Amino acid sequence: MANDNHLTVLCNGLLFDGTGAPTRPADIWIRQDRVVAICDPGVSPPGSMGARRVDCADRVVAPGFIDVHTHDDAIVLDQPEMLPKLSQGVTTVIGGNCGISLVPLITDSPEAPLSLLGTHQFRFADLRSYQDAVDAARPGVNVAMLIGHTALRMQAMSDLDRPANAAELQRMCDVLDSAMQAGAVGLSSGVFYHPAFAADVHELSTLVRVIAPYHGVYTSHIRDELKGIMASLEEAALTARLGGAALVLSHHKCAGPGNWGRTRETLARIEALSQEQSIGLDVYPYTAGSTVLREDLVDGVIDILITGSQSHPEMAGRYLADIAKEWGVSQVQAVRRLSPGGACYFQMQQEDVDRVVCHPLTVIGSDGLPHDERPHPRLWGAFPRVLNQYWREKGLLSLEQALHKMTGLSAERFHLAGRGILRTGSFADVVVFDPALVRDCSTYSEPWRFSEGIEQVWVNGCLSYSGRERACIGRAGRFVPRA
Ligand code: ZN
Ligand code: CU
Repeated sequence: MANDNHLTVLCNGLLFDGTGAPTRPADIWIRQDRVVAICDPGVSPPGSMGARRVDCADRVVAPGFIDVHTHDDAIVLDQPEMLPKLSQGVTTVIGGNCGISLVPLITDSPEAPLSLLGTHQFRFADLRSYQDAVDAARPGVNVAMLIGHTALRMQAMSDLDRPANAAELQRMCDVLDSAMQAGAVGLSSGVFYHPAFAADVHELSTLVRVIAPYHGVYTSHIRDELKGIMASLEEAALTARLGGAALVLSHHKCAGPGNWGRTRETLARIEALSQEQSIGLDVYPYTAGSTVLREDLVDGVIDILITGSQSHPEMAGRYLADIAKEWGVSQVQAVRRLSPGGACYFQMQQEDVDRVVCHPLTVIGSDGLPHDERPHPRLWGAFPRVLNQYWREKGLLSLEQALHKMTGLSAERFHLAGRGILRTGSFADVVVFDPALVRDCSTYSEPWRFSEGIEQVWVNGCLSYSGRERACIGRAGRFVPRA
């Protein structure tokens, strides 16, 4: 069943080829890790006798989804079945987002936000050694990697509370350059987080200049997604422009009630900027964000749901306001007691999320946090949720538009060759789903519930997930270098 020399045909399904073109009836022929032919239903290519037939009648057959925004760097090694992703139809994850990457940091005690990747896998000085570890673990999904600016800083700098000096910056550039040579897809930054906050446009754009000749992508978790969002957008755009690379704005949102409705403004500005430079967005389809516990995100207005706490693990799954009341303290004081930990912050307005999801420059990324005790439901549900809510229920996207944001557009943005598209010669990363049923089931109280309607997931020609068994039944993922 794995990568043998057999021919398999996924027949009688509705093919979405990843480009955004309308779905059409077609048979997809697979040998080893590739699509070898796409034919009209019932038409057999030469030499196809004895092929294994998989009936996909009334099912959509699409390129496996690409999760462009993940923090899966360590989990692909620790839990290589990768069920949270495979069960959504995801076949490739891009790690290293928000400035946070395993590479190139060696430490036993990563400070926040690096701790979002767990604590015990920081053992890779360079991308090649990480690539070897991925290939040895043979995870259920393919893995592409961004290099995190915060990780570079921690590796190169003695004092994080100032911009890098010339020698430190040179060291960071050298490490980044060798990672790009080894196939990183680009650089990510997260100046929102303390260890990177002191970095200025000079430091960041100097690093972006390193990835530009490789056609690397610069992804940015901007400095401020609340009141200061416009200035923060400008900073990210300027950084990418000065550095000469394409920009992806991570998990675009207008956070905080005072900011609700402003995606009209931000998206208009992003469209204007896109006339002069390459800009894209990623988004997860939920009104709550999730990250480490932070006092500055406690405003006394929004709901905050604890996803984990080192000092009080029993509080995972409870609301901060309730905990504070029970303890007889303020919410900020409760956060201090619970830290380090994580939370979901219900900081967005539904209309803003809808506007971003539906924008033509946007691709889907889960931003799932696999190390949280009780993770945000996006970890298990982001992709089916887009299909369920935005296509089937609200009708805000066509099926093709929704799928394009998870496949072809994502691969194009991040330069992943042969992925995100189904045509002769492309990799056989395929999801087969029931369009009448597909939906997310994971919730804030039960984040681990499997999505429905995802029936088969093929990775590099290997049947890797069965919806009937709700299990990983093959692991054929690889490290995927930038094209
Ligand atoms: Zn982020
Ligand atoms: Cu993130």
